Amino acid sequence: MSKRETDKSALKKALDSDWPQIQKHLIEKAAEEAGQDNPHEPYWTTDEDGTRVLNFSPDSWWLKHFDERVVLLDLPGVAVMNTQHWHVGAAVSTIHDAYNMGRAESGGECFAEDDILAHIERFARGQFVAIRTSGPGAGHAVGMATTMRTTRPPTAPILPWIEAIGDLRLAAHEPSGDWLYGAEMAVRHMYRRKGIGTGLYRVRFDLVRSLNLRGWYAVGMLMGYKDHADAMDVVEYGERVIAGEIKDPTVTMQMNRGFRAVSVATAYDDEPQAGDAGVLIVWENPDYVEGGDTG
Ligand SMILES: CC(C)(COP(=O)(O)OP(=O)(O)OC[C@H]1O[C@@H](n2cnc3c(N)ncnc32)[C@H](O)[C@@H]1OP(=O)(O)O)[C@@H](O)C(=O)NCCC(=O)NCCS
Repeated sequence: MSKRETDKSALKKALDSDWPQIQKHLIEKAAEEAGQDNPHEPYWTTDEDGTRVLNFSPDSWWLKHFDERVVLLDLPGVAVMNTQHWHVGAAVSTIHDAYNMGRAESGGECFAEDDILAHIERFARGQFVAIRTSGPGAGHAVGMATTMRTTRPPTAPILPWIEAIGDLRLAAHEPSGDWLYGAEMAVRHMYRRKGIGTGLYRVRFDLVRSLNLRGWYAVGMLMGYKDHADAMDVVEYGERVIAGEIKDPTVTMQMNRGFRAVSVATAYDDEPQAGDAGVLIVWENPDYVEGGDTG
């Protein structure tokens, strides 16, 4: 084995197995310097305007609270699980990364940390993250997905995104809704094309089955439209994606995961890359039992 290969495998070993210890040491040292008694517990501070702020280190929470039994899907170096409150910061920055948003551009109609916490309160089983399980950044989300339940079927007229979800805290979630509605999904650029998105779909198909829902639908944004905007309008682009003539990085990926692409939805959400449009995608649960227990 060449020296370079030996160095590489030593580095890999250190990142996979020794990193948690290194992380722990760094967190404890930082807490000591900040005068915080227990580095692994969150603590509250009060801002100048009286706002109470919860402070915690996601790294620290990862080291203290990760339990393999809550992992829904194990991928190489990444685990998919239901979102915990220590994931919210990384879940929001994953959305920013996936949509090429600077922090300054966020706000408006984009989930913030408090919104993700509200989603967990409302429908914990429908919130997902893909987190790194080894190396620097272990415990941080690199992919995320937000869903809610609704009684509104996919055959009803498509509502713009914010109306469909009610508000950024998923006010439209109906605990006994018989359809799952996909409100958001994002994977960081650096982690794409590694099966993380597919994993986030798998756990949601499992959720639909285990809750005995009729199915799942969403509007997949036509994220590749920006490369075709000079040649055609967004409706033509969407129809050609549905017909399989053009590959869209988001909608074709969703069609390849088992969704039926139904129709183009214009003015769905403010997303310049997609000409604000998407495609209604539907998955009917083949195991649905009429009148069965719906979780
Ligand atoms: C859409 C999105 C979530 C997909 O995430 P992802 O993690 O890249 O998805 P996957 O890796 O599972 O699949 C993407 C493609 O990579 C391929 N792939 C998966 N693992 C691979 C690997 N190890 N090597 C090469 N290709 C791979 C998949 O087969 C798939 O291609 P296909 O559809 O032609 O089969 C991501 O591109 C994204 O965040 N986009 C921006 C935000 C967005 O559009 N969100 C959805 C709004 S509706």
